[in-house]
Amino acid sequence: MKITVSAPSGLEGVVKRELYNLTEQESQAISGRLTIDGDVYTVAKLNLNLRTASRVYITIGSFKAETFDELFDNLLKLDFENYLDKCSKISVFSNIFESKLNSLQAVSSVSKKAICKRLESEYKCKLKESGFEHKIELNIRRDFVTVNLNTSGEPLHKRGYRTSVGDAPIKENVASCLLDLSVWNKNKILVDPFCGSGTILIEAGMILKNIPSGLNRDFDFLHFEKFDTSFYAQMIEDAKSKIVKVDKPTLFGLDIEESQIKLARAHAKKAGVADAILFEVKDMREFTSKTSYGVIVTNPPYGERISDRNQVVKLYRDYGKVYSLLNEWSAFTITPVSDFERLFGKKAVKKRKIYNGKLECYYYSVLGAKPPKKI
Ligand SMILES: C[S@@+](CC[C@H](N)C(=O)[O-])C[C@H]1O[C@@H](n2cnc3c(N)ncnc32)[C@H](O)[C@@H]1O
Repeated sequence: MKITVSAPSGLEGVVKRELYNLTEQESQAISGRLTIDGDVYTVAKLNLNLRTASRVYITIGSFKAETFDELFDNLLKLDFENYLDKCSKISVFSNIFESKLNSLQAVSSVSKKAICKRLESEYKCKLKESGFEHKIELNIRRDFVTVNLNTSGEPLHKRGYRTSVGDAPIKENVASCLLDLSVWNKNKILVDPFCGSGTILIEAGMILKNIPSGLNRDFDFLHFEKFDTSFYAQMIEDAKSKIVKVDKPTLFGLDIEESQIKLARAHAKKAGVADAILFEVKDMREFTSKTSYGVIVTNPPYGERISDRNQVVKLYRDYGKVYSLLNEWSAFTITPVSDFERLFGKKAVKKRKIYNGKLECYYYSVLGAKPPKKI
């Protein structure tokens, strides 16, 4: 079975690495999506564990189609009966990019007719569509059609710990990518001085404690009538047995707003990482540390309105001053503010383009010295 994983824009390399770590397979990257081979067990493992990806799909087939007749005839040849039962409810969703077939609605409607025809001829009965909704996604890129079955359902960034949305939170999977691209590891102090609802630190806490990203949520594949997922309960038990406790927090979050810190604490508790993180209502200007080689990963305010620019200029300058007093710390900051380095007062060794939602941002890596190697 071909399994395809979608990644946040610009972060495909991070997802590819995580996919390799979970499956030991080199994935093929096509238009921001990564494909490997696997079975239902792989689908379950990826949905449960992938921290950085957006969704996991089964690729049912792919072909070239420039007309509706070609689309219909090619879809009729695909073995939908291996994934959909005679009672399965079917919804079809299309993405089209630079192709001759260019009406989303018509493509979805013709495709659904073809899928139903295939299933009716295989099952030799009229479809009832009374069962679980199977979401089929057609991606048409330069007349090449890929037919995917969504096995995740809701995107993977929805871990289930966010009860309400804070002030401009970052998506959970993007936060995980930011951590992966930083120099933070389980042995280092991590600080988010603009922590908001705590997403970056909660993701770090889940990594630190071995809590799978999808432990507290449901997935569509668990409801597919054609799949035997009886192994999943044991997979969850095994994962739970590997969760570790922490002796004292090594992750620290500050925010000037009390409401944000309350939210962050509630989210951390729900995610099972309250013991790993210390949240404090505090202006980041008051932050100091005697520790060396700590790491900052943060998503500061962007000041998107012109009237906020002066505040952001001051805030980023002050953030730079706070950083300059820390001994050999590294700071990783995502922001769309183009003169960040000038305001912060340090040149980044790397500047990566990353989208926070639809907003084009850069992720600035400012590095302190490496800690001495232990003998
Ligand atoms: C873009 S939001 C961070 C969102 C966060 N990544 C999340 O996932 O919820 C920026 C945060 O910086 C906080 N903030 C603004 N000025 C601050 C200051 N001087 N010290 C600490 N926090 C501040 C705001 O209250 C806001 O919650």
